[in-house]
Amino acid sequence: MTTYAAITGWGKCMPPAVLTNDDLSTFLDTTDEWIRTRTGMRERRVSHVSAIELSAVASARALACAGVDPAEVDLIIYGGVSNDELVPNSASGVQVALGATRAAAMDLNTACTSFCYGLATATAMIRTGAIRTAVVIGVELISRYLDWSNRNVAVLFGDGAAAVVLQATDREEGMIGSVLGCDAEGRETLRVRGFGCTYSGRDVTFGDTIWDFDGQAIFKRAVSAMAAASQRVLEQAGYRPEDVDLVVPHQANLRIIEAVAKYAGIPMEKVMLTVQKYANMSAATVPVALAEALEEGRVRPGALLLMPAFGGGLTYNSLLVRWGQRVTPLGESARELPPCRESALELVNRVRATQDPHGRSRAGLMAPEFAEAVLRQ
Ligand code: ACO
Repeated sequence: MTTYAAITGWGKCMPPAVLTNDDLSTFLDTTDEWIRTRTGMRERRVSHVSAIELSAVASARALACAGVDPAEVDLIIYGGVSNDELVPNSASGVQVALGATRAAAMDLNTACTSFCYGLATATAMIRTGAIRTAVVIGVELISRYLDWSNRNVAVLFGDGAAAVVLQATDREEGMIGSVLGCDAEGRETLRVRGFGCTYSGRDVTFGDTIWDFDGQAIFKRAVSAMAAASQRVLEQAGYRPEDVDLVVPHQANLRIIEAVAKYAGIPMEKVMLTVQKYANMSAATVPVALAEALEEGRVRPGALLLMPAFGGGLTYNSLLVRWGQRVTPLGESARELPPCRESALELVNRVRATQDPHGRSRAGLMAPEFAEAVLRQ
């Protein structure tokens, strides 16, 4: 008998503080009109808690939705690039917060596609019989390390988290097709410097990030990779674009999503959008959009879903998911975030206060003697 990996639980955790385009224009040379017309974004969320806390609340909600006890979970995948620390990993922090004592715990970083790569990985493990139950998280807490002085990127991102529960089943449900790939020739077009082991300390302090983004190149590569992957995954599984009930895409820019839908031959009425209110939450965009689609009744029993995504690497994917018969939660979790006592702008200004006090681009600005001192620390 063939084993599948049904998605039986879903839950999101959006931090409550809302940062508007007008908030951004209080400290950046930008306008609401520019951001709306170029990206479709109106506002985004800023988190007052850690990425592990966002993930734990989202996962607890997904587990309650599936009616699964945390002790039954075999694997937690934490998909995203926002880690409190690299060692110990973040998935282990979620494991302890959930009390999922039997679970293996791994972080998976393919940038914005991390949730989708995680869904494909956990599905494959369930389908081979290695595990039976998994929690897959897509999370990002970009506000803590965004370069808030760079208007090219600072307007594009938001924080958030969502998770799904996968369970082994013999019904043909869950991910039934996948195309995963990486356009590595373009890897230099999307870089965040200031993390990792590169001894670049002569011009970058670790943790003090520089965002090297070639927005127009990313735009073109994102559209062609997501559209081609979507066509391939449909062909491989024997479906046509008109068979798709709902597209749940990565949400980096409304114009990218519109172009992908056009090339894939799917009308925008069949596309789930969250970019206007949450902006680009990197790995969290697809699972948050999925959870909202379910909350809004946009996923009907047995629906065919297409999930194209794109991110640093430049990784890309398109997943085909057959939904099951249940589109409502079995239960609810009482778990909540602690109250947020600051506005989003106050939270951002607190991060800005720790960044370059001169408001200049930080690339190459560090005096050599200071860089030497940083390296000696
Ligand atoms: N406010 C006002 N003006 C701005 C801003 C801003 N926030 N940012 C850039 N500009 C200026 C530029 O400096 C440029 O000015 P110039 O003509 O005097 O040089 C002008 O606006 C036009 O810039 P373009 O790059 O031509 O704008 P474009 O229409 O390409 O939109 C954008 C830029 C939104 C970044 C787009 O290219 C894009 O969405 N790219 C891909 C998305 C991306 O990089 N996302 C990052 C994450 S990657 C991912 O999730 C897949």
